[in-house]
Amino acid sequence: MTQRPYVIDEMISAKAIAARIETLSREITAEFKDTDKLVVVGLLRGSFVFIADLVRELDLPIEVDFIEASSYGDAQESSREVRILKDLRSAIEGRDVLVVEDIVDTGFTLNHVITLLQSRKPARLKTIALLDKPSRREVDIAADWIGFEIPDEFVVGYGVDFAQRNRNLPYIGKVRFTP
Ligand code: IMP
Repeated sequence: MTQRPYVIDEMISAKAIAARIETLSREITAEFKDTDKLVVVGLLRGSFVFIADLVRELDLPIEVDFIEASSYGDAQESSREVRILKDLRSAIEGRDVLVVEDIVDTGFTLNHVITLLQSRKPARLKTIALLDKPSRREVDIAADWIGFEIPDEFVVGYGVDFAQRNRNLPYIGKVRFTP
C-alpha cells in the first residue's frame, strides 16, 4: 500500500521531553525508595526510547524487562482486541513493577497488560505513559504518571511510529497529511 504524503509538525521538543522525564523520575524514585529491585517493564515497541531515557534518571536498583502487545499494525486505528506477542522473562510475584507505555489512547492495551500483570500478584504495580489522549478513551483507565496530555492527533517520533516509520525522530511530532 502506498502511503499518502504527509509532513510532521513538531509538537513536543526533545528538550521538553528531557525536562519532564527528570521531574517524573524524581517522583518515581521517591515512590519506590524502599524497593529492593524495581522491575521496569517496557511495552514494545513504542516505549523503547522513553524507557531508555527514563531508567537512566531513576536513582533506584532496577531491572528491565519487556512485553509486547499486538498494536495497530500499519493502521491508525486501535484494534480493541489485544494479544500478547512477547511475554516477560521475569516472574513478578511479590515484586515492585513499573509499566512504561508510550501512549494511552483508547486504553485497551494498558488495561489488558495491567490486568494480566496484576493476576501475577506483584507487590506494587504502577504505570507511566509518556503521552495521554484522554479524549480518545474507551476504557476507564489512567496511568499513575503522565508525561504530557495531548489532543486527538496522530503523533510520531521518540519511539512512536506511523507504519514503522519515524521512530527515530528525537521529538514528538504530529502527522499532517498534505494534498
Ligand atoms: P490504545 O490501546 O488504543 O490505548 O493504544 C495504545 C497504543 O496505540 C500505543 O501504545 C501506541 O502504540 C498506539 N498509538 C496510539 N496513538 C498513537 C499515535 O498517535 N501514533 C502512533 N501510535 C499510536
